[in-house]
Amino acid sequence: MNILVTGGAGYIGSHTCVALLEAGHSVIVADNLNNSKAETIDKIKQITNTEITFYQIDVTDETAVGAIFSQHEINGVIHFAGLKAVGESVEKPLEYYCNNLVSTMVLAKACQKYNVSRFVFSSSAAVYGDNTVPFVETMNLLPTTNPYGETKAMCERILTDIVKVNPAFSVSLLRYFNPVGAHESGLIGEAPNGIPNNLMPYVTQVAKGKLKKLKVFGNDYPTVDGTGVRDYIHVVDVAEGHVAALDHLMGGVHIYNLGTGRGTSVLELVSAFAEATEIKVPYEIADRRPGDIASCYADASKAKRELGWVAKRDIVAMCRDAWRFENKLL
Ligand code: NAD
Ligand code: UFG
Repeated sequence: MNILVTGGAGYIGSHTCVALLEAGHSVIVADNLNNSKAETIDKIKQITNTEITFYQIDVTDETAVGAIFSQHEINGVIHFAGLKAVGESVEKPLEYYCNNLVSTMVLAKACQKYNVSRFVFSSSAAVYGDNTVPFVETMNLLPTTNPYGETKAMCERILTDIVKVNPAFSVSLLRYFNPVGAHESGLIGEAPNGIPNNLMPYVTQVAKGKLKKLKVFGNDYPTVDGTGVRDYIHVVDVAEGHVAALDHLMGGVHIYNLGTGRGTSVLELVSAFAEATEIKVPYEIADRRPGDIASCYADASKAKRELGWVAKRDIVAMCRDAWRFENKLL
């Protein structure tokens, strides 16, 4: 199939382009490079030895999006493009609502106009909020802690309402847990601007000597060792989940958690990193980070049952691949 990948120069999008190309699909990337670099497109070509078409456009721009749909026969859309920093979304709610909602609506309109019936949307475990773990797709959504989570829940709702009146429009809502790691080539991965907010890039930067010490945000949560528990999932497993979701789209809305089903605490991740790299990352216990929940992990059984997809790579592999990528960064 010929797949339009919005946000394909970004972290998860670039790995998904590789997985799509390896599965025999063709890829057109649309990205405004707001949080990524054009070089990533070359790296995707290098890994796969395949050409891809790249448009540097903003997917909230209806005219620019329409031009792509009119020039190419598109069989499906995977919509990654979006703003994703939870803290920033509290500071800049309007930017988050405009970017994440308008892009989704512009793409859905183009799909209707050009009869494209397959749509895969990047949602987030953030929509579960403070539900009880493990999170199951049937739970009521509680995304109200920040505008970012709200945009994901709203986009899910918009796409679901469209399907209600167009049952042939087929939508997969993929709720990712904590994607980490990098492609095994070390050519693509996550390179956040400035000081990382997320745990894994912080750990790799401390290990590299770019940052002094990890601050562990809280050790008094009701978890195995008091530190926050998350469902870390290798980004290549997430990418493969998209190929499986695309292959199984058959009308209607389908929601899937993309997680491993296993929770790992902050201190367990630090140990796994030491096992993978033989580097003991120095850390200190700090206050809880506002807005954090104690535990977040998936019930990943629906994706296994319906898509035949399971996450294959373990936490040590995630650390090893994240470290390899950090070492290849200039
Ligand atoms: P990323 O920032 O690396 O990739 C997003 C890409 O979209 C970037 O290349 C950016 O330049 C592009 N983009 C943003 N707005 C755009 C617009 N209006 N027009 C064109 N391009 C635009 O982020 P990522 O980690 O790869 O996340 C991809 C998607 O997955 C996002 O929608 C994010 O909210 C969602 N998600 C990510 C995580 C995570 O932990 N990384 C977790 C859950 C959900
Ligand atoms: N943590 C630290 N020190 C740090 C960074 C994080 O102790 O320097 C802890 C956090 O307190 C948390 C865990 O490590 O317990 C994971 O934190 P991350 O920031 O890596 O990830 P979050 O679970 O907070 O958030 C991520 C994405 C969100 C997404 C959410 C659910 O950043 O966009 O997963 O999918 F919404």
